[in-house]
Amino acid sequence: MSSQSDQCTATLPRPRSLDNGADLEPATASVADTVQFEASSETSGFPAHVPLPAYLQQTYWWAYLHPAAVRIFERQWLVNLILWGNFARLRDLALDEIGHSISGDVLQVACVYGNFTERLVQRLEPTGRLDVVDVARVQLENLKEKLQGALRVGLHHQDSTDLRFADASYDCVVLFFLLHEQPEEVRAQTVAQALRVVKPGGKVIFVDYHRPNWLNPFRYIMTAILKTLEPFAMDLWRQEIADWLPDQGRSLKVEKETFFGGLYQKVVVTRT
Ligand SMILES: C[S@@+](CC[C@H](N)C(=O)[O-])C[C@H]1O[C@@H](n2cnc3c(N)ncnc32)[C@H](O)[C@@H]1O
Repeated sequence: MSSQSDQCTATLPRPRSLDNGADLEPATASVADTVQFEASSETSGFPAHVPLPAYLQQTYWWAYLHPAAVRIFERQWLVNLILWGNFARLRDLALDEIGHSISGDVLQVACVYGNFTERLVQRLEPTGRLDVVDVARVQLENLKEKLQGALRVGLHHQDSTDLRFADASYDCVVLFFLLHEQPEEVRAQTVAQALRVVKPGGKVIFVDYHRPNWLNPFRYIMTAILKTLEPFAMDLWRQEIADWLPDQGRSLKVEKETFFGGLYQKVVVTRT
């Protein structure tokens, strides 16, 4: 099991430079204490229109975009069932990697059904802060409801391939079951963006699918499920997350652990 790291718990100065142009957002663009929805040109100066990626509309509309999707899937028992009873374990693996108490800046790329973000917010120290990005506005609105005015949280309507934050703005970036949903070229851009916005010494944490061991009985049912419902997920069975790192991962430290007979993985990439 992973050991807790203090990479994300140090209180670090927040670089607020907009050195890459006026359209980049510092990590803490929301200075108010309570949850802020920074999603439109009225509130943030960003283009109101963030296009929905084609794969999301074609493959995942039923899970994230359909008006009934949130009503159906936003159930703790259901997300736990989808992960074969492993939701809490995988959630806590990711959260423990960020820190038991978090005093730095954390970016969560993509919303998650279930209580992942609420549990993350519970770990925030008074100097800690969370920003959450999602390309589907309905998912951000759902998260805002779930967070019920939580402190020091910013919600941002953005695409993971085009993050509007300054370089090296976050102590930690976490991606919980996002990569398997994305086509390969999108996935590579997402990984590159996550690494761009993490500070030197900071971590990017991925929790996602992985190829199970030969003897894992879930291997066979998951092959059928993923091939039917999640066509890009099998990439994570064939390749390592490290394969999508920019510059072939040079000058990055990569640590990988697998769980539940290899069906799930946690990969921690530390920027050196
Ligand atoms: C993190 S993933 C899946 C997590 C997990 N299966 C669950 O139970 O929610 C789902 C989220 O990713 C978001 N998403 C997909 N592609 C994205 C992108 N390119 N940029 C930002 N968010 C994206 C979707 O809108 C959705 O809210």
